[in-house]
Amino acid sequence: MHVLSLGDTILLEAGAGAPVWRWWGPGAGAGVRDLPGLAALRPRADFALEAPVPLTLVPGFGTGWFGPAALRAHRSGQDFAQQWQAAHIDQTAESLTVTLVDPAARLRLIQRLAVEGAVVRLRAELVNEGAPLTLDWLAAGTLPLPPGAARIKSFTGGYNDELAETLEPMPAHQWQREGVSGITGHAGPPGLFVLTADAGWHQGLVYAAQLAWSGNHRLLVARADGGWLLQAGEALAPGEVQLKTGESYQTPELIVTCAEAGVNGALQAFHAAIRAAGPVLGPRPVHLNSWEGLYFDQDAARMIALAERAAALGVERFVIDDGWFAGRVDDRAGLGDWRVDPRKYPQGLMPLAERVTALGMDLGLWVEPEMVNPDSDLYRAHPDWVLALPGAPRPTARHQLVLDLGRAEVRAHLFAALDALLRALPIAYLKWDHNRALAPAAGADARPGYRAQLLGCYALIDQLRAAHPALEIEACAAGGGRIDAGIARRTHRFWTSDNLDAVSRSTIQRGFLHFMPPERMGAHVGAAPAHGTGRAQAMAFRAAVALPGHFGVELDPETLTPADAALLKAAIARYKALRDRLHQGQVWLGEGADGLAWQAQGSAAALLLQLTRCAPPRERFPPALPLPMLGDARYRVTLIDLALSRACPQPAWTQTLRAGVVLPGAWLRHAGLPLPALAAESAALIALEAVGEAGAA
Ligand code: GLA
Repeated sequence: MHVLSLGDTILLEAGAGAPVWRWWGPGAGAGVRDLPGLAALRPRADFALEAPVPLTLVPGFGTGWFGPAALRAHRSGQDFAQQWQAAHIDQTAESLTVTLVDPAARLRLIQRLAVEGAVVRLRAELVNEGAPLTLDWLAAGTLPLPPGAARIKSFTGGYNDELAETLEPMPAHQWQREGVSGITGHAGPPGLFVLTADAGWHQGLVYAAQLAWSGNHRLLVARADGGWLLQAGEALAPGEVQLKTGESYQTPELIVTCAEAGVNGALQAFHAAIRAAGPVLGPRPVHLNSWEGLYFDQDAARMIALAERAAALGVERFVIDDGWFAGRVDDRAGLGDWRVDPRKYPQGLMPLAERVTALGMDLGLWVEPEMVNPDSDLYRAHPDWVLALPGAPRPTARHQLVLDLGRAEVRAHLFAALDALLRALPIAYLKWDHNRALAPAAGADARPGYRAQLLGCYALIDQLRAAHPALEIEACAAGGGRIDAGIARRTHRFWTSDNLDAVSRSTIQRGFLHFMPPERMGAHVGAAPAHGTGRAQAMAFRAAVALPGHFGVELDPETLTPADAALLKAAIARYKALRDRLHQGQVWLGEGADGLAWQAQGSAAALLLQLTRCAPPRERFPPALPLPMLGDARYRVTLIDLALSRACPQPAWTQTLRAGVVLPGAWLRHAGLPLPALAAESAALIALEAVGEAGAA
């Protein structure tokens, strides 16, 4: 037996079988590498196996471990209980690769762990060296959770109501979050946070995990043999993966972190991991998206007029949403026929594209490549190209079916269609939508096609990006239905939600920021009343809520009053001036007293602090706001913007902060920033900059 440690948080005992988990968390650093007698200190129990089977890196099924197994596989019922032997352990300072074999079952399992900054990336691979095998489940990783784990923070949601936070106690038995709709879903990324008893936004031990995967998934937290464990992987459909001799299956990557600085520590680790694995992003251009301004009611003249109004506001990328292609007068027809509608655009899209670029903007175009309307030329030509059960009805959703991207000829057709568009027009950006779940999802061989569908989608995006390296892609799925670390590797922006109501948005966006950095968060200023809810908020508040993300506009500026148009133009200019600070640093989320939400973006030395109040205050006098992320320096505190729904009763506060005031960081950390009384639907943007001795004088 010897101790295996990885990074500062992982401690395992290596032996003859799969390495045994001894700890995941703080305190596993260099000092414990020579920990003597770990095996002798393992807990024992009466009326149990003489050689108890503890939680291992790859807990087995049917051999004495009675918690969730990492692998469930069989050959018509044979070889269901694997007896792993450790064959190789390869370790570097940043990685651990454990190869296990079961010579009788002729299986090889490779579990990989790689440390990158504050995250660990885990992935497992199963190689079938025997007769054909049915694989039901292979966890990307199984990790122990600490005895002090107290609550699970996860997210739920639906269309127009993505990423709604829920808090639950640790389970007596098992907690499970499973998605089998073939896509990530509106609850947000397949991930969760586990908080220890004293953990909060800024302090305490927090564990978090997210799968880099946009398809079916299963996450579980289970009580087993005296502790909790966390396990996650792809949820396979019955019979979906059958491995022939010599074939292997690779899980999606599971990204985990354990942070001593609370939820913010964990989400900052996620942001760094998403940035490290994804495309490098330049300054995020201001968008105008045509959807809520024009819907399907578009043509060359209207679109050019909209582009001109967009440019006058300072917009930098003009995105033509749904409705530009043949047959698309509403959502009943046209998907699949990616040619420009000759009635709306008799001269094609080039005159519009030229006008957009002449106005100094990038051009973006909406597509929904995986989908087809039955009322389309593509479907009429290839009715066999969709996911469907043989002989069964083909239920539509939003009047559409799903093309089978598991088939090479379908991918080749879609690549040719999209590549032709990208070659014909100066398109900098595709908004890539996916407006329905996969059901039923049988491929050409009538077997489950979920995995093949997703791998086909990833391959298609990768092929397009290789052919058009400058192309940016937005991942959209009826709003925020495909937000995850798998598609984040190959795309540049998420459409966070179709709900543009700023009150709804302020919670949806906070959910988003638990997993993804703000520069990926599509955040638009929409109309009032909001099309998604019918509620109306003032322009200043709408713009303030959109500011921290990747800012955009989704309305026809012609409908604005001159005062609102001027406010929006000023907000666009403000976003351009601040985007580098908003997007390249860390994010802190927090809650003040009495319903005030805040977030800060930047570094501890130079922060932009946004305060948002959605509901009316209860307290007559607003409590001060402690800012726990500040250091001991003195900070110049300057009010940049105040979006008030009612006049602030404290003009002296506004005047003082507009001019800027220098305050000690320690005082702001503990006593807090004095605040004015803000009415419902108000926001404030404040800069905090550490100043040297001169500034402090
Ligand atoms: C989805 C998207 C919207 C818009 C429409 C177009 O709902 O989320 O933003 O693109 O499709 O049909």
